[in-house]
Amino acid sequence: MQIFSYLCTLIWINMDSFEQLCQHRRSIRKYTNRPVEQEKIDYMLRCALMSPSAKRTCPWEFIVTRDEAKLRPLAGCRTYGSQMFNTATAAIIIALDPTLCDNTWMADGAIAAEHILLAAAEQGVGACWCHVYEREGAPELTRQLFDIPEDKVVLCAIALGYPDEERQDYDLTKLKYDKIHNETYHCNNGR
Ligand SMILES: Cc1cc2nc3c(=O)[nH]c(=O)nc-3n(C[C@H](O)[C@H](O)[C@H](O)COP(=O)(O)O)c2cc1C
Repeated sequence: MQIFSYLCTLIWINMDSFEQLCQHRRSIRKYTNRPVEQEKIDYMLRCALMSPSAKRTCPWEFIVTRDEAKLRPLAGCRTYGSQMFNTATAAIIIALDPTLCDNTWMADGAIAAEHILLAAAEQGVGACWCHVYEREGAPELTRQLFDIPEDKVVLCAIALGYPDEERQDYDLTKLKYDKIHNETYHCNNGR
């Protein structure tokens, strides 16, 4: 598995277009025990800090953890869909201040999250969005683990680690082109 994780690092130099990065980014939910380098996490955070937000209100806060005593309990924050924290070696939790913007906090947080996911994939690091907002007891547990104040909403926790599973890149010939509409909604022959 170390070889696979090393190969993932090489992917950094093999993707030379944004489209290829989008093709390659997949949700990774199983990780090796190789820690993610701090420089790579810093790179993801810088990318997140450059994400667009409505009126540049920057309503997000990013909480970084590498602490297994916090990562493992996150695996139980939901009955299903949080298993990636059984092996994650790091995570970035995104909390937002909804009073800073006019109902755009979720969009602002989602864009920042996507910057992190893409920056992780570019560096050969596996990542997966775990939804926290309004999911069972997930907000309460996350708030408690990371001491997040009540006036912030917790959107998601992004699990990070070197991949211990292989996911296929997106196939450009199999995208849902019928989702694309030309000029009117009812004209969606796509290409
Ligand atoms: C808003 C949002 C919430 C998500 N929540 C979860 C989640 O709670 N648990 C999980 O395993 N994956 C979650 N995902 C990942 C999606 O399942 C994944 O992006 C989707 O299946 C497409 O697969 P891909 O990321 O490999 O392209 C979430 C993704 C988004 C955008």
